[in-house]
Amino acid sequence: MKGLILSGGKGTRMRPITHTAAKQLLPVANKPILFYGIEALKDAGIYDIGIIISPETGEDVKAAAGDGDRWGIRITYILQEQPLGLAHAVKTARGFLADAPFVMYLGDNLIKDGVAPLVDRFKGSKVDAFILLKEVTNPSAFGVAQLNGDGRILCLEEKPARPKSNLALVGVYLFNPNIHRAIDEIKPSRRGELEITDAIQRLIDTGHHVDSHVLTSWWLDTGKKDDMLEANRVVLDEMTDVCMDGQIDETTRLSGRVHVGKGTKLSHCTVRGPAVIGDNCVLEHSYVGPFTSIGDNAQVGHAEIEHSILRENCRIVDFHGRIEDSLIGANVELTRSHLKPVAYRLMIGDDSKVEVV
Ligand code: G1P
Repeated sequence: MKGLILSGGKGTRMRPITHTAAKQLLPVANKPILFYGIEALKDAGIYDIGIIISPETGEDVKAAAGDGDRWGIRITYILQEQPLGLAHAVKTARGFLADAPFVMYLGDNLIKDGVAPLVDRFKGSKVDAFILLKEVTNPSAFGVAQLNGDGRILCLEEKPARPKSNLALVGVYLFNPNIHRAIDEIKPSRRGELEITDAIQRLIDTGHHVDSHVLTSWWLDTGKKDDMLEANRVVLDEMTDVCMDGQIDETTRLSGRVHVGKGTKLSHCTVRGPAVIGDNCVLEHSYVGPFTSIGDNAQVGHAEIEHSILRENCRIVDFHGRIEDSLIGANVELTRSHLKPVAYRLMIGDDSKVEVV
């Protein structure tokens, strides 16, 4: 069985962070989201993985994941020139997939229990496609499935205005090669994309066997800032250990599950886990609260940070303020100015969002 991870797209809902970074490389608990997908497939015994990349962010994705050596897998990169839909991505990967059954995994999705049990169930069955569903409160934002009383799929619709159920399609799909013919037979949707949802509906319409499983454990689709923070919260909440590779002075208090990376120094700090602090950071006179991830090489002084993600190389010094519910990009600098007149002095990229008190 092969794996196909989708790591293209423009990440428009996460601008400005995605003006310069692929959304699949944004960190959750200091690890790129994409790596959770790669590891989920590897844990399911899938060692031959294709990653769909876009012209805009493909090189960054390649640089981050490499040839797969570090996981003992083989990664093949497949360029999708334009974001023309998930089914179009499968079409683009046809050469790589050949006649193998495969797991398609959307690179911005996280599911709690991985995919190994699903792969086992799929291998032991004769179904043509196996999809995952999850009850959600906002089904119109997703592909939606309607089931009959026995749990058989009646129909699937992509982002319907009037959803027939609250069961969303999760971004993990298992297919045998019959999906390719179904993709060849569908037309682009209203949003101009070849939808995988329509291809699966086509399988159903042509008498193929599509099975589903409703997830009860968590599933996260990290399309927006708050989704990222929620993913960070959930993943940190599952962290069970404490890991101290850095140094703390005698005035620093760590409580709960906290990871401190190599070369990192904390003085006069309070850290309440779950929280992760990367490598080579310097934190002084600061508070780091629960559900916070601080990337490598951060400098934090006189600041309070909680329920937030800081990417690498951030400088938050002499801040004397509290940061919550925030997603902060790489190389960001936040400092208190002592210049007169007292004012906010900003250099903020396009599509940024700033809330001041
Ligand atoms: C895609 C699929 C949708 C699915 C969702 C899961 O939507 O088209 O059916 O429910 O992923 O993450 P997208 O997020 O690409 O709009």
